[in-house]
Amino acid sequence: MMISAEDFRARARRKLPHFLFEYYDGAAFDGLTAERNRHDLHAMELRQRVLCDVSGISTATHLLGEAVSLPLALSPVGLAGMAARRGEVLAAKAARSRNIPMALSTTSVCPLDEVAAVKPPWFQLYMVRDRGFVADMLDWAVAQGCTTLLFTVDLPVLGTRWRDHRSGLNQAGLTGALRRYGQMLARPRWAAQVGVTGGPHNLGNIAHHLGRRRASLADCMAYTSANMEACLDWSALDWVRHRWPGTLVVKGIMEGEDARLALGGGADAIIISNHGGRQLDGAASTVRALRRVVDHLEGRLPLLVDGGVRTGLDMLRMLAVGATGVMLGRPWVYALAAGGQAGVERLIDILEQELRIAMALCGCRSVQDISRDILRF
Ligand SMILES: Cc1cc2nc3c(=O)[nH]c(=O)nc-3n(C[C@H](O)[C@H](O)[C@H](O)COP(=O)(O)O)c2cc1C
Repeated sequence: MMISAEDFRARARRKLPHFLFEYYDGAAFDGLTAERNRHDLHAMELRQRVLCDVSGISTATHLLGEAVSLPLALSPVGLAGMAARRGEVLAAKAARSRNIPMALSTTSVCPLDEVAAVKPPWFQLYMVRDRGFVADMLDWAVAQGCTTLLFTVDLPVLGTRWRDHRSGLNQAGLTGALRRYGQMLARPRWAAQVGVTGGPHNLGNIAHHLGRRRASLADCMAYTSANMEACLDWSALDWVRHRWPGTLVVKGIMEGEDARLALGGGADAIIISNHGGRQLDGAASTVRALRRVVDHLEGRLPLLVDGGVRTGLDMLRMLAVGATGVMLGRPWVYALAAGGQAGVERLIDILEQELRIAMALCGCRSVQDISRDILRF
């Protein structure tokens, strides 16, 4: 029975080929920062309040100008579409039905137009060396009706991910391919529904740019790694700001100074994120970083946060520290693998219910009532 985000993870592990589960679940090195994200949230003590008349609780609020049913959005996850057939489209349908935003990764399987036909997502941008590609991508996102861009800045180089080596994901040559095929065959249902009939299996947005919808995953990956840009600096934010007419959100900020620079560079909001612990292992947890950035900025910018959020209690803690909204990465992909659109809807319902109960027990009737008063540091 699916009663918590953790249940979806267990089911996803049973349903996905090993290397794919390891890719989603993994973090940098052996996952110290990913572990901290969760640990530091759990360690945060909540104050139980009583006799507050919590009969009329509402989780409705606004996120980046959009009315939403709860302060939650789906984080961008590259290759999420391999978790289920046309996976990002299913997740977009679930997010639309529960009235929360979904962010689509540059490196999604389903191309932006396929997802935007459900509802224009928040679009996530990785800046690459080929500026023609980035400019085209931004124009395309505007034409598809996207109004919010997440500019991810925490991936100038890819973090060291041990589990992707151990699982065979990164293993080159025939031996690697055979190993991955073996793992796919060990999951016959996934192999039939996603592997055989779920194509095209490529990076839809990159394939669109390459002008070949059927470009292979290998072509798209080759393009992406050849175009990764380690020499990015703050002028990149200027460049994006001048080209993006809508709401611009910088994703991957962990320090107050960087938050200030983002603000100075024209960001409308910031996402406190360490990429789910997949980049700098040893970095702080996002809840601690959030606290520092909130104090540093003194509330001058909407702050979203992700990393380690698995329950409505975790959402409440993030909001209490000072986030405007909370985002969710791995859990929605596990729910997608476990149950498709219905799985993601169920996960959102679980979190909403958990948040509602947590608010009631801390004496908060609305999202605006949630403050540091409910925490004991
Ligand atoms: C498998 C995987 C792929 C990801 N791909 C992207 C991506 O393409 N773009 C991006 O900005 N963040 C990406 N992220 C980071 C997430 O957006 C988010 O910051 C992180 O997953 C939050 O942590 P959580 O998984 O503990 O909720 C990815 C995360 C995972 C787990």
